[in-house]
Amino acid sequence: MDFVSAEALIPPDSVQARVSRIDVRELGLTIFENVIPKRVLARMNATIDADRAAWPAPDGGADLPLARRFGEMLRLLDGFRELESQSCAQARDWASRELRGGYSEDSLHVLRCVNHEMDWQSNLRHHDSHLLTMLIPLQLADPTELNGDLLLYKRRRQSVTYLGNMAYKTWLVLQQNRRFAARARQTRRDLAQGRCRRIACVPGNVYVFNGFLSLHANLEIESGERRSLIIHHFDPHLTAGIKQVTRALRLQRRHAD
Ligand SMILES: [Fe+2]
Repeated sequence: MDFVSAEALIPPDSVQARVSRIDVRELGLTIFENVIPKRVLARMNATIDADRAAWPAPDGGADLPLARRFGEMLRLLDGFRELESQSCAQARDWASRELRGGYSEDSLHVLRCVNHEMDWQSNLRHHDSHLLTMLIPLQLADPTELNGDLLLYKRRRQSVTYLGNMAYKTWLVLQQNRRFAARARQTRRDLAQGRCRRIACVPGNVYVFNGFLSLHANLEIESGERRSLIIHHFDPHLTAGIKQVTRALRLQRRHAD
């Protein structure tokens, strides 16, 4: 499709409600409510409909030009710009206290449009390679029990050394590569035992957490399509080499599940 400017995606009469903030300390999660007006979400979803035929993968993926453009567009909203800069400042503070090796200012914009045929995306417990994760739901799947909700684990990892990170991530990749049914059973157990909590995301809100520390995943989807924009900031470069392995295994899993 022809690219329209980020400005053009914000309808001129979009009314921006007051943003409110909820801190869920137990999970290290901050929820910003009423950030994105409904009309802006509608335009983003219509743009996805028009653009997706050209995507390299059916679910979207990392660093799509459209995802980056959505990020630019959202920064035209005062509420979004402020919460992003607040969250980035907090992440920088944390990194300067906890990370000896430093980090780069890289950001990664990801679009994930997931439906019931994409089980290879679900129940994949993982940590992000970037420090700050901003999850921006654009559209929910149908309101059934299995609607792709975010699962956040309570216990956050402590190790941030290169070797510790690599060993742990290797173990996680092996876990992720189990078949779908085994991964889903693990999710049910973790929920029942209170190890993780299910976050019922609402389009218009923004969900911010340290994805590098917090283990997280998504439920599978029974029907409909869930669409999310995910913006990651600050790369400590502790996953060299493993990203390629993860990508290769994900492709393999897509055929196995
Ligand atoms: Fe993630």
